[in-house]
Amino acid sequence: MKILITGASGLVGRALARECSGRGDEVLAYDHKALDIGEPDAVETVIGEQRPDAVINCAAWTDVDGCESDPDRAQRVNALGPENLARASRNAGAVLITISTDYVFDGRKDGFYTQRDQPSPISVYGHSKLEGERRAQAAHARTIVVRSGFIFGPGGKNFLSNVVSLAERGAKLKAIRDCWGTPTYGRDLARRLRELAELDLPGIYHVVNSGDGASFETFSVEALRLAGLSTDILEVVTNDSLGRPAPRPRNSRMKCLLSPAIGLAPLRSWQEGLAHFIRESHKQALKTQI
Ligand SMILES: NC(=O)c1ccc[n+]([C@@H]2O[C@H](COP(=O)([O-])OP(=O)(O)OC[C@H]3O[C@@H](n4cnc5c(N)ncnc54)[C@H](OP(=O)(O)O)[C@@H]3O)[C@@H](O)[C@H]2O)c1
Repeated sequence: MKILITGASGLVGRALARECSGRGDEVLAYDHKALDIGEPDAVETVIGEQRPDAVINCAAWTDVDGCESDPDRAQRVNALGPENLARASRNAGAVLITISTDYVFDGRKDGFYTQRDQPSPISVYGHSKLEGERRAQAAHARTIVVRSGFIFGPGGKNFLSNVVSLAERGAKLKAIRDCWGTPTYGRDLARRLRELAELDLPGIYHVVNSGDGASFETFSVEALRLAGLSTDILEVVTNDSLGRPAPRPRNSRMKCLLSPAIGLAPLRSWQEGLAHFIRESHKQALKTQI
């Protein structure tokens, strides 16, 4: 397939470019500098000229606290960006996949959020992402929304991606005890994104690794255990104690109703994904030392 990726230098964008190249796809990878998804004319021109089979949007303003203090920027990137891509994809005859988030839910539910649950975001980031889902779906019938959460992998700037490397450097880490989600390995998400592009079946999919989910604390403990490191460096804290500007859902664990119904196998457990990530990171570190 000819696949155009936006946000190609982010955690998911990189994993996706690698996955698609490995499958022999023609990959058109646009990072933020090469294509700003908030610029409708640029988006129309690039997609109109390239005419890909699929556009996969991995671009977003993912700074949850930053969004809280700059809602206009959040709106421009996370809400209007997917709409710009959807219009251009419709005009070019391409399927659009846009990634959304578990933060569209308020976290008050016990158990797993499915597509039957009503989104009700509690942060500017969550609101902007939900609006992006809706605007994209309204603009283009061939839109696939992929909600994921607690994503980790190489190149990630977030806590989950960096627990082990920070611990190896001797940092003290604050691990939140009372926010739960379903961890998702970027590489597994990328593989599923590519499968969905080929299936071209519009809808909202929840794509996360299998299992009961984890808090930041339980994820960190497992990561350090797998890396053979002590958990003594972990300071267990509550979400409220951090006093961050944006509220986070207490529970944003997700399950997909649609994927098993159309024969998609569940992704492996998050612990297996995490073990794979840690092995690969160590191999990479050895290579750079040699
Ligand atoms: N990481 C998570 O835990 C998580 C959880 C749920 C959902 N998601 C969703 O997953 C998707 C991928 O996120 P990620 O984890 O890969 O985040 P990421 O590493 O922050 O990557 C996002 C990329 O988007 C780029 N970007 C920002 N504004 C842009 C714009 N206006 N036009 C084009 N590119 C722009 C960023 O570039 P610069 O850095 O150069 O600005 C960055 O390379 C996003 O939709 C995110 O909302 C992530």
